[in-house]
Amino acid sequence: MSAPALQVQDLVKTFDVGFLGAVPGVRRLTRGWNLKGIAQRVEAVRGLSLTVAPGQTFGFLGPNGAGKTTTIKMLMGLIHPTSGGGTLLGEPLGSKAARARLGFLPEHPYFYEYLKPLEFLDFYGSLFNMTARERKRRAEALIDRVGLQHAINRPIRKFSKGMVQRIGVAQALINDPDLVVLDEPMSGLDPMGRKDVRDIITDLRAKGKTVFFSSHILQDVELICDRVAIVTHGRVRAEGPLDELMDAPTANVEVVARGLDGAAVARLAERALTAQPAGAGRQSFMLADESAVAPFLAALAAEAGNLISVVPHRRSLEEIFVETAGREEAP
Ligand SMILES: Nc1ncnc2c1ncn2[C@@H]1O[C@H](COP(=O)(O)OP(=O)(O)O)[C@@H](O)[C@H]1O
Ligand SMILES: [Mg+2]
Repeated sequence: MSAPALQVQDLVKTFDVGFLGAVPGVRRLTRGWNLKGIAQRVEAVRGLSLTVAPGQTFGFLGPNGAGKTTTIKMLMGLIHPTSGGGTLLGEPLGSKAARARLGFLPEHPYFYEYLKPLEFLDFYGSLFNMTARERKRRAEALIDRVGLQHAINRPIRKFSKGMVQRIGVAQALINDPDLVVLDEPMSGLDPMGRKDVRDIITDLRAKGKTVFFSSHILQDVELICDRVAIVTHGRVRAEGPLDELMDAPTANVEVVARGLDGAAVARLAERALTAQPAGAGRQSFMLADESAVAPFLAALAAEAGNLISVVPHRRSLEEIFVETAGREEAP
């Protein structure tokens, strides 16, 4: 197997905030003192490990404040880990060698607002040693790709939030990167805009690129990722191929039957997680998992009920998300 496109081990980032926290050296000097209420530390990332294989579209998922942006900043070499490390395209985090093959969209990009799209992309292209002709060709193609053709003569300061996000995605792709890291690329976009970004990501995947993007919005990830990691409070809580996470063995199975009287329903309900009427004289029973199906069907037959359907309910990412967050120990 080829080297991972991205891998990090035991990444930790602790911020010192509040009084004294910001003064260099104070934390070392005062180690062991009881400074509760004076110096404060935020453990933004608390031992995070990840591996992303080349060509994967990887969703880095978690609620606000989970530590996604902090992790991505460490990946990009914008801030140093408190401990831990990793590689990007086989190079140590923050190395220049990886940067040439990397595209990055920050969460809150700041762009030179007086530039128009072509000038803006030309500027970013010039950071990558591209010829003027190559920059122009690529910039035009990307403007088209992100649907900003209509705004070609408009300075970025007159762009809507969604348009800024689109030009940001174009910027991240100017050097035809092998690895694209996007921090909340769909945030602030309307449904059309989200679809455009999804299409761009799908397109990148088809071209064999590796895409690593963060989101706190499950639906976007659910549609396009090969693999996801769910992060809460600075740690990865669940990680794997999307279908494996969703086909987890604890997936519930719903059995629908009819021809049961009240007493029979009550007896069967004892074998189910929930039981409720499903209309037209039908009754729905939710079973904990596959292993409960055979005994339940035997009991149903004993009650002379008619089986209508047996449907495994795949867990949505949303359920996993909520479950995982709920399992959280106090931070
Ligand atoms: N520069 C900083 N100084 C202090 N705390 C920070 C800093 N950056 C992030 N944090 C804190 O770290 C935690 C994780 O933040 P962040 O990585 O932005 O989460 P996410 O991107 O998942 O929403 C939050 O509690 C945030 O307030
Ligand atoms: Mg963030």
